[in-house]
Amino acid sequence: PARPLVDRYGRHISYLRISVTDRCDFRCVYCMAEDMTFLPKRDVLSFEEIETIAGAFIARGATRIRLTGGEPLVRRDIMELVATLGARIGQGLEELTITTNGSQLAKHADGLAAAGVKRINVSLDTLDEARFAAITRRGRLTEVMDGIAAAQSAGIAIKINMVAMRGVNDDEIEPMMAWAHGRKMGLTLIEGMPLGEVGIDRVDSYLPLRELHDQLARRYTLEKLSKRTGGPARYVHVAETGGVLGFITPMSHNFCESCNRVRLTATGQLFMCLGQDDQVNLRDALRTGGAEALDAALDQAMMLKPKGHDFVLDRSSTAPSVARHMSVTGG
Ligand code: GTP
Ligand code: 5AD
Ligand code: SF4
Repeated sequence: PARPLVDRYGRHISYLRISVTDRCDFRCVYCMAEDMTFLPKRDVLSFEEIETIAGAFIARGATRIRLTGGEPLVRRDIMELVATLGARIGQGLEELTITTNGSQLAKHADGLAAAGVKRINVSLDTLDEARFAAITRRGRLTEVMDGIAAAQSAGIAIKINMVAMRGVNDDEIEPMMAWAHGRKMGLTLIEGMPLGEVGIDRVDSYLPLRELHDQLARRYTLEKLSKRTGGPARYVHVAETGGVLGFITPMSHNFCESCNRVRLTATGQLFMCLGQDDQVNLRDALRTGGAEALDAALDQAMMLKPKGHDFVLDRSSTAPSVARHMSVTGG
């Protein structure tokens, strides 16, 4: 590309995460409060605006796009956007992916595959129906299982994301691994991050994954993989199961030095880091100044990208490190 996106620390930004809605049909206890106020619909970017912004990123060297939310598949007519973005695969864009809670996956799996989506991430924290209902507050496990089955029949590779929480689902790590790996799916464990006011105590439920990794290493043969997807996860191959296990450790091991990503919210704010407030308003740039202003806003954004997040988790600070929920910035 003519002017690649490089920030002040020399990091190339090649990965755009687009939150297409902050809404969700679940209310996971670590993600949302029971009653959430969502962004007004009139402030939400149109598909045309999202496509223009995505195009500007691709023109400047972004090769991967991931749709997130909220729950991306609850946005009306979302498959239209998936199809138009999918049409850019091979023309600068190398990969289009999606992170979903799976609730609407059964009806969209074929459409995703047809649009060129080859792998997706499904958030799933437990295999127990009652526990699933308690964690998600509104979800039904069978719907997610049907969605996973449909995506697999459509030929889409799946990675399961599990937020590991002490006292909530830490007894299910090995069963989840056996289940996922037994079905040729990857499993990635995530440390809970202090984003927004939610329904659980983040300090009590915090489970350092280093500890868990060392426990697992005593029972399984974990072979370190150098493969990186450009994401923050570190992966190991588990000899006994033949599957891949990932660890995302924002709290215990900061991976910001290799960060390659930025995040577009549903209303057109470009956040430079999940854990910082630095942002550029791409919607206003686009609406008032068109393509040129948008391009200039991307340059401005590169100057603003912070070195890293500074999440803190302790009893002395009662407020979350970052006031906005994950569903606003896009997981
Ligand atoms: P691939 O690497 O493409 O497989 O995707 P991913 O693991 O980055 O994407 P996914 O949407 O599955 O992200 C999983 C979770 O990792 C997110 O929801 C966040 O919890 C966390 N995460 C992803 N990127 C970042 C990041 O830049 N900073 C922090 N702190 N956490 C991140
Ligand atoms: N900390 C860590 N992960 C979170 N997710 C949502 N909120 C948080 C949080 N506060 C996860 C979801 C999903 C992904 C998009 O983000 O479980 O896997
Ligand atoms: Fe929805 Fe995902 Fe948040 Fe759960 S974690 S409430 S599924 S956005």
